[in-house]
Amino acid sequence: MNVLWVFAHPEPRSLSGALRDDGLRTLRELGHDVRESDLYAMKWNPVVGAADFGAYEQDRLSPDIVAEHEKLRWADAVVVQFPLWWYGLPAILKGWFDRVFVKGFGYGVRGEDGRTLRYGEGRLAGKRAVVVLTAGAREPAMGPRGVNGALADVLFPLHHGTLFYAGMSVLPPVPVFGADRVSGEQFVKARDLLRSRLRALETTEPIPFRTQNSGDYDDDLVLRPDRAPGAEGLAVHLTRAG
Ligand SMILES: Cc1cc2nc3c(=O)[nH]c(=O)nc-3n(C[C@H](O)[C@H](O)[C@H](O)COP(=O)(O)O)c2cc1C
Repeated sequence: MNVLWVFAHPEPRSLSGALRDDGLRTLRELGHDVRESDLYAMKWNPVVGAADFGAYEQDRLSPDIVAEHEKLRWADAVVVQFPLWWYGLPAILKGWFDRVFVKGFGYGVRGEDGRTLRYGEGRLAGKRAVVVLTAGAREPAMGPRGVNGALADVLFPLHHGTLFYAGMSVLPPVPVFGADRVSGEQFVKARDLLRSRLRALETTEPIPFRTQNSGDYDDDLVLRPDRAPGAEGLAVHLTRAG
C-alpha cells in the first residue's frame, strides 16, 4: 500500500516522535511505500488566505497545497498523528485540513447527477484513514462517563466531520492515554499497539458511519425516525455499535 503519514508535533524527540519513527519503520518493514508530511519540519502555513478561496476550481492553488493533494491522490491510506491539545488538533494540523481539504477537493464535490458527494463519498473515497493520538488523560477519563468525554465523541469532528465527510473509510483510532507520564513498560505497550494496528491496516473494519446517500437520512439530512428509534447523540450516526 501507499501510506501517507501526516505528523503534527514540534519536537521529534517527544513520545509522539518516537512512535512516529517506529511506525514508519514498521510500515517499511511490511513492504509499504511511505511518504510523510511532517508539518512542523515543513513549516506548514496553517492559515487559509483569501487567495485560497475558489483556487481549486480555478486551477490556481498554491504549490504547497498542490503537493499535499498529490500525496493524497497517491496514498491508499493516511495516518494522522498528533498530541491531543485542548480536545482537538494542534493548530498546524487543523490548518493542514483547512487549506488542503479545499472546496472542490475535500468538500463541495458533486457527482454526475449533481448530488453533493460527502459523508462516505467524495474525492477521497476508497482511501483508509487512521488517527494515532497521544493524550494526557488516562483511559477511564476518556471513557463513556469520563470527565473528558468519550474518545469517539472527542474525535467525531475529525473522524466523521472531516475524514469521512471527504469520503475516507475511517479506522478505529490508536490512542495512547496517560501520555504525560509514560514508563518504559508503557512505551513498549503503546509501540506494540501501534505496530499491531499498522500490520492490520489493510484489513481492519472501518468505523461503521452511515453514508449520507444510504437512505438513512431524509432531505434535511436528519436520521429517519425508524433508524436508531428514540436515540439521540453522535452514536446514532453508526449503523451498529462501534
Ligand atoms: C496545549 C496543550 C493542550 C493539551 N490539551 C489536552 C487535552 O485537551 N486533553 C488531554 O488529554 N491532554 C491534553 N494535553 C496533554 C497532551 O495530550 C500530552 O502532553 C501529549 O499527548 C503527550 O505526548 P508528547 O510527549 O508526544 O507531546 C495538552 C497539552 C498541551 C501542551
